[in-house]
Amino acid sequence: MVADERDEIRSRINIVDLVGKTVLLKKAGKSWKGLCPFHADKNPSFTVDPTLGTYRCWSCGEHGDIFSWVMKTRHLEFVEALRFLADMAGVTLNSRGPSVSKSDKARWAAAMQDALSFYREQLLKSENALGYCQRRGLTNEALSEWEIGYAPDVSDALANQLKRKGHSLAECRELYLVEEDTVGGYYDRFRGRLMFPIRNENNDLIAFGGRLLGDGHPKYINSSDTPLYKKSRVLYGMNRAKDAMAKEKRAVLVEGYLDVIACHASGVKCAVASLGTALAEDHAKLLKRWCEQVIILYDSDAAGQKAADRAVEILRNEGLRTRIALMPEGEDPDTLLRTAGPSAVQHAVETGLRPTEYKVRKLLATSTPDQDVFWTQAVEILADASNEMEMDRYVVELAALYPGSTDPIASQNALRREIMKFKRRRRTAHADEAVPRPATPMLSRELHASELAIFRGLLEPGVRQLAWNVCGEGDLFVSELGGQTAAAIRAAFPSGPPSEKPSVWVPAIEPEHVREAFSLAQHDLRFEGITVRLVEDAVMRLRRIQKTRELQQIKKQPQDNERLKDFLNKLKERHQNHNPDAS
Ligand code: UTP
Ligand code: MN
Repeated sequence: MVADERDEIRSRINIVDLVGKTVLLKKAGKSWKGLCPFHADKNPSFTVDPTLGTYRCWSCGEHGDIFSWVMKTRHLEFVEALRFLADMAGVTLNSRGPSVSKSDKARWAAAMQDALSFYREQLLKSENALGYCQRRGLTNEALSEWEIGYAPDVSDALANQLKRKGHSLAECRELYLVEEDTVGGYYDRFRGRLMFPIRNENNDLIAFGGRLLGDGHPKYINSSDTPLYKKSRVLYGMNRAKDAMAKEKRAVLVEGYLDVIACHASGVKCAVASLGTALAEDHAKLLKRWCEQVIILYDSDAAGQKAADRAVEILRNEGLRTRIALMPEGEDPDTLLRTAGPSAVQHAVETGLRPTEYKVRKLLATSTPDQDVFWTQAVEILADASNEMEMDRYVVELAALYPGSTDPIASQNALRREIMKFKRRRRTAHADEAVPRPATPMLSRELHASELAIFRGLLEPGVRQLAWNVCGEGDLFVSELGGQTAAAIRAAFPSGPPSEKPSVWVPAIEPEHVREAFSLAQHDLRFEGITVRLVEDAVMRLRRIQKTRELQQIKKQPQDNERLKDFLNKLKERHQNHNPDAS
């Protein structure tokens, strides 16, 4: 069972050892102290408590256990953190599918590394390939930084090399290095191509992309999904971009290998690209772990713009802010660098537009206010604005363009009404699709686990009556978001718990931001199979927190001795009522 595995891991890993790997800790009483890694700390305000298995910064409020520590400091999702710690603790995870044995992984890594070394050597031997690099402006520095190589145009050059090195070619086939021919032999997958090794954010070599030296088809070949690599999870350049991403809190998203390299060469060190595939939800999740904003720098042709629109949507669904950067017609970052220099690439990145601004500009460029389609599109664009103020700015701007408008205020109001109408229609249309937005780390920090347990209870038929009752106790909730969520539930369902499926009512709960609480609760493994009993426990825990807080409040005010006594007496009474045996 999941909980057992976690307990097992907790019992085997001392949080002081784990945190002590990155933070210098000194013993202070029962706990350990050091400088907080989550904010610029001058006095050691960060404590690690081995008895509780927790850490907390008394200055910035960051806190958690070994799992949250690994998630936050290594930018991992929970399941990955679980795997990481299980590995460290020597615990085998049963509930998470077949895990790959260490020796398999080591063999695959060795085969990939030998392939890379081979490609690297071959590049230096091929005048043709080196000439191509030079023509494409790839400096020696770039070639070595990005470990670029060359796959010679020989049918089994790599296959022979891998065999010499003692690798199983059948296994190398799984890694997309070689392919089997009809008579049981093996030939190279990549031939006559400039080779780009693809590493994940942990710097593991997991795939290759290869470009033809000249024209031809297909221009690029990429490893297809292998045991080491899933296209939709990997971004080219992530290993080299992640530190800049974390520091700048933003990423630059481009289309191709050479665009990533050109951005880095221009000083834009947070650039990455999805590989031979459109941006996917998993890509966005990966980015979300490292930064808050993504600047999309795609080609300005129709295909590029369409891909950019789609990317904006995907990134926004993960809670990332977006900007769309425009380049002169026909340029990509790689050509821009070569024709206009690094400052042109930087300039494009720095002048990225907010999505609404970008769409309004595009609307104004592609249609005119005397066309109906102009207004239907305007309404759609403004309904998507990220907030009311942004929407209003363009309502004013666009309403002024309404043909024959004499009363600007009336036109603005009419446009606002159309936008509201559109939003309402869309909400009803989507009500049963129910895609609660995934958790953001910030919110999971905000909400108490016991609050989440209650919200999870609302999603389960057998538990929802109790959970609904509890939501009526406004005081019970210890976090702001928890209180808001409970209040929102009671406002939406004043006379009893929701009887519909969550997929029907969750997307409709207002205000919108409280919906996150349900998606957090829903995706939290701790609450799988929630029962009435577990919700009752959660309520008890919350009551205890409330009491402690009240007590602290009163203690802070010495003049309130009377209140303190009163409070303690009441507590005692209650205790005796609940435990008739206690004297
Ligand atoms: P582009 O066709 O825009 O090429 O493909 P590019 O990146 O500008 O490449 P150069 O400058 O001509 O060398 C963008 C990205 O789409 C993927 C590659 O990842 C490429 O970098 N792609 C493109 C493929 O996977 N296969 C292809 O055949 C073409
Ligand atoms: Mn290009």
